[in-house]
Parts: sequence; structure tokens; C-alpha cells
Amino acid sequence: MTDHDFRILILHGPNLNLLGRREPETYGSMTLEEINAALRAVADERGAVLRILQSNHEGALIDALHEALDWADGVLINPGAYTHTSLALRDAVAAVRLPTVEVHLSNIYAREPFRHTSLIAPVCVGQVSGFGWRSYLLGLTALLDYLVDSAGG
Ligand code: DQA
Repeated sequence: MTDHDFRILILHGPNLNLLGRREPETYGSMTLEEINAALRAVADERGAVLRILQSNHEGALIDALHEALDWADGVLINPGAYTHTSLALRDAVAAVRLPTVEVHLSNIYAREPFRHTSLIAPVCVGQVSGFGWRSYLLGLTALLDYLVDSAGG
């Protein structure tokens, strides 16, 4: 498969800075730094370039999406709890029109009912949910494959 030096924005939403210490029975024991290192390894293998941001602030995530308009080819996002609440984040994803993949460590459909709805997923290419830290790797691989296909292979 041909790769194209795709530039990907990785966004981690609120509370994900605490991964490793935060409810490990739900979110696993990998830290965010370890997940980012695993993502960078996949990106290096595929010749992709990553910019990674974690923020606990809705506006900072939206600002990063707007800035991505000028340089990114795609977005991988774990919006955390904003998944279920943030129309503003959804509108930002829709506005920038960058192919976006939503990921979740936990299976949001197997949890509390308030987690069953994603406001973000309808404006994404797709969603990966429930595979722990591997959701991120699966999501990044799927996004890069999607971009390769869109570029005509
Ligand atoms: C999460 C699922 C959300 O419901 C929750 O608010 C999170 C993490 C996940 O990765 O499983 O913060 O996005």
C-alpha cells in the first residue's frame, strides 16, 4: 500500500491526561504518553506525521480543529465526555470537513445509557469503540487507509 506523508491531528479530550490512573478497570493501565508513543510508531511505519493535543477544554479542542484546516489531512479524536454533550465540537468537525475518526477506549454502547449517544459520530468517517488503547491504533490505521483510498490508492 502506498502512503502519502499524511498529516494527522490527534485530539484527546477531557480527563484522558489521567489515563493509567483513571478507572483502570474501564480504561486500562496504559498512560496517554504510552498510547501516543504507540501511535507515533504506527505513523512512522506508514510515513504519516502526527500532531497530538490533549485538552480538558472544549474551546481548545475546537481551536485545534480550526488550525488543522491549514495543515492536516485527517483527524483522530477521542472526545471523552464531550462525545455525548458537545454540539460545538460536532459543529467544528463538520465545519473543517477533514476526514475524522472517533475512538473510545471503552465500549460506550455497553455502558450507561447517557454514553450510548455520540453527537460527534454522525459527522465522522467512522468510530472505533471498546478495544482499549488498541482503539486508537485501529482508528489511526483505518483513517490512513481511508486517506489512501481517497487519494486514489
Ligand atoms: C471515553 C468514553 C466517554 O464516555 C468518557 O466520558 C471518556 C472516555 C472512552 O475513551 O472510552 O472520557 O471517550
